[in-house]
Amino acid sequence: MKDNFIITIDGPAASGKSTIARMLAARLDAAFLDTGSMYRAVTLAAMRKHADLQNVKALLEVIKTGRFEFTPSPGGMKVCINGVDSTEQIRNPDVTANAKFAAGPGEIRKELVKLQRAFARRYGRIVTEGRDQGTVVFPHADFKFYMTASPQIRAERRAKELAEKGIRVDIDTLQKEIEQRDLSDASRKTGPLKCPKGAIFIDTSGLSIEQVLEELLKRINEGNRKTSSKKKENKKLASVKTVLYKICQWLVYRLCQAAARCALGTFFRVYTVGRQNLPKKGGFLILANHQSFLDPAFIALPINSRCAFVARDTLFKGLFGHYIRLYNAIPISRDRADTAGMKRCIDKLKAGFGLVMFPEGTRTADGRINAAKPGFSMLARRANVPVIPTLIEGAYEVWPRNRKIYTFGRISIIYDKPVAPEEIKKMGERKFGEFLTARLRQMQNEIRIKDGKKPFEY
Ligand code: DC
Repeated sequence: MKDNFIITIDGPAASGKSTIARMLAARLDAAFLDTGSMYRAVTLAAMRKHADLQNVKALLEVIKTGRFEFTPSPGGMKVCINGVDSTEQIRNPDVTANAKFAAGPGEIRKELVKLQRAFARRYGRIVTEGRDQGTVVFPHADFKFYMTASPQIRAERRAKELAEKGIRVDIDTLQKEIEQRDLSDASRKTGPLKCPKGAIFIDTSGLSIEQVLEELLKRINEGNRKTSSKKKENKKLASVKTVLYKICQWLVYRLCQAAARCALGTFFRVYTVGRQNLPKKGGFLILANHQSFLDPAFIALPINSRCAFVARDTLFKGLFGHYIRLYNAIPISRDRADTAGMKRCIDKLKAGFGLVMFPEGTRTADGRINAAKPGFSMLARRANVPVIPTLIEGAYEVWPRNRKIYTFGRISIIYDKPVAPEEIKKMGERKFGEFLTARLRQMQNEIRIKDGKKPFEY
């Protein structure tokens, strides 16, 4: 059995589900959630306040202003209303009769559904019983049961229960009441009583409580066996899928690389220097300045090892999302410290990819190189890979930020000597950022002078 699970038992009044749910929870070491007690508690709290039970707003006010505590106890579930233990009192016949006012309106049910889900979150392993647990509240429960018995049998059981408490009742009247409750439970607009989809149906008419409990435990064990063999199958399927996905990724990357090399060769004049500085084996981190939106292509296309890129997580939608994922894009959130995204980057580096990143954060507004933001060397240190400072020059003139169409021109890509992870460690985060900014600026001015352009002053 899983560590945390939800088992729902739904069914009509007096079908024995409360007793069974309580016993099942004890056997499975789970918390018992008696949802009927919640409707009863709201009813009792409203009665104590002399609120108009037929007024939904008044009942909502009772829920809002009252302090309701539902906690697992050895006998089932303890109910406290405004600090007063009311576990016994909510069972009084007048509360039973009035509970329909709290159980009917959708607004009240919505509030109590919230409390029921909060209970499940808090206690993790729960057995819950009610009328709408498998249908509305926990449709994805691990096990769902629907328990019922004929109205006559249920009336006899309830009469016996009451007789044990010294209360004598007429069985026929009791049966009529039960039939009435069945009707009102089943015809309610919100959360009507019905057998949940996928639930195991159990007619308890000819069975003792022990027999019902054994039946439930048997079904749960069978279900668990099936789930664990299904899980094994799913695992196999998942690994086959992963291999196929990796092959697709490789194919897409190589095909796009070939096509893009042709296209870029036709439309741009790209010159590369220092490709021998790129490691032949293992991952590496390319930290480059950022001039145009085509920079990732300009930088990655001349490289033989496969490259990965980071992209805003909001881009990973629809067909485009699938495409960039196949093209080794890693989703990163811009709004928060995305540790999961960072881990994905480290995994790619460790898997031998060249990861292309732009430590300035955003494209340049005038061709100059802005100071590198901190945090990038951490990736290289954690993945134990070298950093290749990479300069891109000319892309800004060819396709600056606010221009729709490119102009013909020369683009230079310079891959500098690798900086080993040990050196990065020695420098520390801040110093490495300063070193990288200074090195890229120096490389940029050297190439600008060579190309007959004016160097930038910083
Ligand atoms: O199961 P019980 O008799 O303790 O339920 C008390 C009332 O709450 C009864 O009118 C049915 C209603 N109820 C409901 O509408 N939905 C639930 N999940 C549980 C109980």
